[in-house]
Amino acid sequence: MKTYVCQVCGHIAFDQAPVDCPVCKMPIENFENVPDAIKKPLDPENLTEDERRHIPFIKIGRECNAISLNRCVDVQIKVGAIEHEMISEHFINFIDIYIDRKYIMRAMLTPKRSYPLISLCLNVTSGSLSVISNCTVHGNWRTKVALEET
Ligand SMILES: [Fe+2]
Repeated sequence: MKTYVCQVCGHIAFDQAPVDCPVCKMPIENFENVPDAIKKPLDPENLTEDERRHIPFIKIGRECNAISLNRCVDVQIKVGAIEHEMISEHFINFIDIYIDRKYIMRAMLTPKRSYPLISLCLNVTSGSLSVISNCTVHGNWRTKVALEET
């Protein structure tokens, strides 16, 4: 899987660079192919403390009453099984959400007054949900889950 990183806003596109960055709207020239843009755990079965602090955890729910007209999938995303700090020198800068490798949205975070945790309602019930968390010091980390109902 190729990863292209927008040198302006840090957004990562999978497989190919988009014509315009879906986050900051800058043109394709600003994307660079960065093979190791996303950090991978050395041993996924045995995460280090640093990995446990950065890898997003995804909780899926299907009981939401907030959207009355349609079924929705509720997603809670928390960065880190061990809570990540949110101080000016070191914080989770953004969380990017993808369905089937296509960008859906970004949550921009700020230090001090936000936790690295977001909740959202998705208007999709199947496909693969990918989440990238970006730490200002430790880079990009990803989690991927299937949305299919079990
Ligand atoms: Fe960090």
